[in-house]
Amino acid sequence: MKGRPLLPFAITAIIGILLMVSLSFVGLDQRAEMNADEDGAETEEVTEFEDPIAEGQRLAEQSCIACHGGDLSGGAGPALTSLDKSPEEIINIIQNGQGTMPPMPLNDVEADAVAQYLLSISE
Ligand code: HEC
Repeated sequence: MKGRPLLPFAITAIIGILLMVSLSFVGLDQRAEMNADEDGAETEEVTEFEDPIAEGQRLAEQSCIACHGGDLSGGAGPALTSLDKSPEEIINIIQNGQGTMPPMPLNDVEADAVAQYLLSISE
């Protein structure tokens, strides 16, 4: 009968261990959720492109070639392959339009990427 009083302690210990294990799983879960939140915030608003010139090329092919020609060497609009403008001037034209060119729906980061791309191909 000497072992008997130990039983309640053993049960308490087991419950304690189970509690610790389950709490740490809850903790892991919460941390995973927090990470997901952070990632979500990043994808919501792009603040910069990893490769602005490649992204600028993609955006130009999507938004500019209809008027400026398939290789941007001119069409309804003038050639964009030999621009003598600052990035700010190009961004301004993209976002506000110029003459008969309507404003393009590109945000600051996208317009900047297109400007960088155009300047990278300008001779
Ligand atoms: C709907 C047709 C159209 C689209 C789409 C368009 N453009 Fe234009 N763009 C024009 C026209 C027309 C002009 C000449 C405007 C003028 O009268 O000065 C022009 C002029 C420009 C100029 C000034 C060129 C110079 O030498 O003065 C730049 C820079 C330019 N566009 C960039 C872009 C970029 C970048 C895009 C894509 C994001 C784009 N355009 C999309 C029609 C367009």
